[in-house]
Amino acid sequence: MIYPIVAYGHPVLKKQASEIDKNEVDVRQLAEDMFETMHNAQGIGLAAPQIGKSLRMFIADATPLEDEEIGDWKQVFINPEIINEDGDSWSFEEGCLSIPNIREEVIRPEKLKIHYFDEYWNEFTEEFDGMRARIIQHEYDHIEGILFTDHLSAFKKRLLKSKLTNISKGITKVDYRMTFPAKR
Ligand code: NI
Repeated sequence: MIYPIVAYGHPVLKKQASEIDKNEVDVRQLAEDMFETMHNAQGIGLAAPQIGKSLRMFIADATPLEDEEIGDWKQVFINPEIINEDGDSWSFEEGCLSIPNIREEVIRPEKLKIHYFDEYWNEFTEEFDGMRARIIQHEYDHIEGILFTDHLSAFKKRLLKSKLTNISKGITKVDYRMTFPAKR
């Protein structure tokens, strides 16, 4: 099932998401729906709050990047917890399915260690670096109620303000279904 993607300005994107109770959520079904929704929008990462569900879960699929090193890395992260981040910080131009047509450079640490469950509730503690770490950091922010635009300088934020307001009103060109919080 393809869900509409929640646009910038919706309160669910600013909220810290809740831990998932194994007995209450069918995470395999949810992961399947999230992959379908993300692929339909040509994304490489999607967090549950972006489909209006305030749950600690996100997915990644690097296939559209066509990056040799990262390959067809595809993964589900449930109740993740970043244990630490280190390495040299680097800048990369990020985008977000909730903030269409805006891309900005964001600086983040190179490596991280994360504890999480997969969609079969297998438990892992694993290290990631490079683009994988980058995608995880962006998606992890979503379940903490943080957007990539929150990392920008006050100056950059001011420059983007009217564009972001327009996105929340649905004044943007996008070829996938979205929920716009300020659309009349
Ligand atoms: Ni995003």
